[in-house]
Amino acid sequence: MIARRPLLLTPLVTAAAGPAPDGLHARAARKGLTFGAALATRHLDEPDFADAFAAECGLAVGEFEQQWERIEAREGVPNWAAADRLAGFAASRGILLRGHALLWHQRVPPWAREMDAPRFRAAVERRVAEAAGRYAGRMSSWDVVNEAVRPDDGRPDGLRDSVLLRQLGPGWVAEAFRLARAADPRATLVYNEFGIEHATRGDRAKRRHLLRLLEAMRAADAPVGALGVQGHLHAHLPFDAAEWRGFLREVEALGLSVLVSELDVNDRALPAEITPRDAAVADLTRRFLDATLDCRAVRAVITWTLSDRHSWIRRGQEAHHRRADGAVPRPLPLDDQLRRKPMWQAIAAAFDHAPNR
Ligand code: G3I
Repeated sequence: MIARRPLLLTPLVTAAAGPAPDGLHARAARKGLTFGAALATRHLDEPDFADAFAAECGLAVGEFEQQWERIEAREGVPNWAAADRLAGFAASRGILLRGHALLWHQRVPPWAREMDAPRFRAAVERRVAEAAGRYAGRMSSWDVVNEAVRPDDGRPDGLRDSVLLRQLGPGWVAEAFRLARAADPRATLVYNEFGIEHATRGDRAKRRHLLRLLEAMRAADAPVGALGVQGHLHAHLPFDAAEWRGFLREVEALGLSVLVSELDVNDRALPAEITPRDAAVADLTRRFLDATLDCRAVRAVITWTLSDRHSWIRRGQEAHHRRADGAVPRPLPLDDQLRRKPMWQAIAAAFDHAPNR
């Protein structure tokens, strides 16, 4: 049995109000779990929001402000202000800080994409060393690599045909974990992936390739500590609890922990009427979390922002997220007014029924 690294550091400072006794994090903590959500600095400017966030959450992760492109829009001129503000908020509320993501093909800055291979490698090494090094000791976990598997690209190893793969070669994922470990000896180092949760052909193929990648990294002693299952669920797609449990068992057998790292539910195929829509979102959340939390390797549940009013799905960045009827999506545990929705109740009940870690 491979020894697991502790997933989470202990938060150091407690000043302003933190997790409430009846909030989701308190429910999770009773089972040895953590509940958290993605956060952007502009959310903290909304007077009612910061306290609600800290009441429900024991962990905060940057929605996009810890990304390479965001921090280093101009080569060699990093701006850490937003990422530092998120870190300061977490410390002031006594909640854990998580990083997303050291390397993601979508967030490689345009200036780096133009480089030749040796300069690109040096830029990647500097990015990982600077970001992981800056928050070392404060970061509970880092997504070291985000979304590197894409079987549709047709490679036998299932790796995504991205700028990172083309410039660094297929060993880039393992190498990224080594660089991160050198810069931060304590954070749990996470491989984060989407599109693996449902009982569809595409998700099954991705799970197979992902398991092979994780196996290869363990065999090569790459310091990967956890799998981040993003959990961007779709209410219209099939979910098979037995199949999903089987997958998590295989991940656990590799000695890895698991985080649900970006949970939300896309409701675009559900009726517009709010009561049945919220009920269906809650039902899928409950089935997914019950199956997931059965696995003791699962250590945290993190939603992708906390309130419907901040959801990326609502911003409609991807056309296939928009509802044909124009109704406003409701993918998260709190509504626009920060009231608890049926999805909140589903998460709370799943924590209450989860086995102890
Ligand atoms: O805040 C600026 C605004 O000032 C500016 O005028 C505008 C113009 O581009 O951009 C605004 O920032 C955008 C930000 O979302 C807030 O809307 C960024 O451009 C945009 O890139 C950013 O998108 C984020 C996206 O990842 C890319 O980083 C989403 O918020 C974020 O929810 C989404 O999250 C991803 C995870 O990282 C990985 N898994 C999937 C998930 C959903 O796509």
